[in-house]
Amino acid sequence: MEILRTEHLCKVYGTGEARVDALKDVSFTLRKGEFAAVVGESGSGKSTLLNCIGGLDTPTSGKVWLDGQDLFGMKENQRTVFRRRNIGFVFQSFQLVEELNVEQNLIFPMLLDHQKPDKKRVDEILEVLGLEARRKHLPGQLSGGQQQRVAIGRALIMRPMLVLADEPTGNLDSGNSQDVMDLLMKASRHYQQTILMITHNEHLTSGVDRVLRVRDGRLTDMGGVRA
Ligand SMILES: Nc1ncnc2c1ncn2[C@@H]1O[C@H](COP(=O)(O)OP(=O)(O)OP(=O)(O)O)[C@@H](O)[C@H]1O
Ligand SMILES: [Mg+2]
Repeated sequence: MEILRTEHLCKVYGTGEARVDALKDVSFTLRKGEFAAVVGESGSGKSTLLNCIGGLDTPTSGKVWLDGQDLFGMKENQRTVFRRRNIGFVFQSFQLVEELNVEQNLIFPMLLDHQKPDKKRVDEILEVLGLEARRKHLPGQLSGGQQQRVAIGRALIMRPMLVLADEPTGNLDSGNSQDVMDLLMKASRHYQQTILMITHNEHLTSGVDRVLRVRDGRLTDMGGVRA
């Protein structure tokens, strides 16, 4: 089943001499349960691609279809709700709410969406994250790796159709990077979670289903099959 389709996605920043063609005619699809890595040099357009797919940025032209729905065909407030319910984001800088404890950070997307948090789901996620003993801790009392695990749990809690991760291991040492990768892999395998993840670290792409390379705004599907 196809979850994501981009068609002829283009993004232009600036005009005249300041013009940057950050995305050039990017078309690809992701199927349910696929774990794809996006690689490419700094400035090649990786974050621009993820931000356009996630509706955090607007493409100059082209389309993004999520589960058959035209993301930029929606009105802005519709898109905001759609994004909240269907897309989980993970960023390099964790972006947890410092005043909220682990459990409260986890359920934050549900509260935003006026949903009653399901205690069983929260307990299950905490177990998968290996953070049951940290549920009342604040982000400032956690290691970087633990904070990123909370951010991943927060991205998963709504059972989104797509998780978008922009360099989730960018601020972590190699041990913690591996833990975060293991966790994403587990989500991919156990929950058939569809994941699109940017990484600079090509060691981390060995287990994913597909590698997509962005070079100067153009995307090439490098294929690759998970062992
Ligand atoms: N808001 C913006 N205004 C103008 N130019 C931008 C803007 N955002 C990105 N760019 C330009 O678009 C190009 C692609 O940027 P992008 O952030 O997508 O790269 P990236 O592949 O994610 O790089 P990195 O690996 O360093 O994060 C770059 O040349 C960048 O300078
Ligand atoms: Mg980037």
